[in-house]
Amino acid sequence: MKTVIIGSTGQLAQDLLKVLGPDATGLSHQDLDVTDGVAVAHALQALKPDWVLNTAAFHRVDDCEVNAGLAFAVNALGARNVARAAAAVASGVVFFSTDYVFGGQGRSRGKPYRESDLPQPLNVYGTSKLAGEQLVQQANPRCLVVRTTGLYGTATSRKGWTFPELMLSKAKAEGAVKVVTDQVLSPTYTLDLAAKVKELLQAGATGLFHLTNSQECSWFEFAQKVFELAGVKVQMTPMQTEQSQRKAVRPSYSALASAHLPEVGLRPMRPWPEALHDYLKAKGIIC
Ligand SMILES: NC(=O)c1ccc[n+]([C@@H]2O[C@H](COP(=O)([O-])OP(=O)(O)OC[C@H]3O[C@@H](n4cnc5c(N)ncnc54)[C@H](OP(=O)(O)O)[C@@H]3O)[C@@H](O)[C@H]2O)c1
Repeated sequence: MKTVIIGSTGQLAQDLLKVLGPDATGLSHQDLDVTDGVAVAHALQALKPDWVLNTAAFHRVDDCEVNAGLAFAVNALGARNVARAAAAVASGVVFFSTDYVFGGQGRSRGKPYRESDLPQPLNVYGTSKLAGEQLVQQANPRCLVVRTTGLYGTATSRKGWTFPELMLSKAKAEGAVKVVTDQVLSPTYTLDLAAKVKELLQAGATGLFHLTNSQECSWFEFAQKVFELAGVKVQMTPMQTEQSQRKAVRPSYSALASAHLPEVGLRPMRPWPEALHDYLKAKGIIC
């Protein structure tokens, strides 16, 4: 299976390249900007892959609030450029979306969002990604839309850190961290996500899938597990989202689960604490 991975220097893309092997071609932001529709069409005409996996995103959530134009240009119209250009050469397209398409109802909701739940984004990033999902589905019927949450991988994200890295570096520098308890998610290791995407492609699946490591936690509980596994002693102070004074509103609950995976004969991904353990091992943080 010949694949092209767009945004290839990113953390998810690096693991997709690993998992998909030598038939995968990576195109970095420098090679190809998804906002340039003509360039995207030329690139895919030349490569004619079976599948294009578009990981490109403007996903610094607070920056999206002040630069909504760029958020929509990359996350919505750029995604459409890729989906259209893929359709023109009879390629399928995989678009990566986010838990932030949901509004969150706090932990009292009691159950993760499934694919059939109604999106209700609270911020520009989530709105631009939801628009991207719809544009991609309209532009290319052979598409896979994958919603995921709280990614971390061994290749550092464009944000410049992964959450476990940030926690460990703060603990080292300051001996103390403050973390929110009132945002709940399903943190996801990009290597696990990449492997499940490969399974979906091999199964010939199309449509909308929620793909995350299973189970849920707050960012506070996620940080606690990082420190526990890494054997780091640190003073942890719980805080509420409203104390963090960030520009974008964040959902208080955005854990995801998939009703569609079993329908195509695939198992859910393993629980997030197991995945975190393997990530810390792969980074050389634990043995
Ligand atoms: N990170 C998360 O927690 C999270 C959660 C849910 C969903 N997602 C989604 O999952 C996908 C992968 O995320 P990630 O964490 O792997 O991101 P990442 O590490 O930041 O990688 C994103 C890649 O996209 C490239 N890019 C940015 N703008 C581009 C453009 N206009 N044209 C082409 N390439 C562009 C970046 O290149 P430069 O760095 O050179 O600009 C980078 O290589 C994204 O679609 C994201 O929205 C992420």
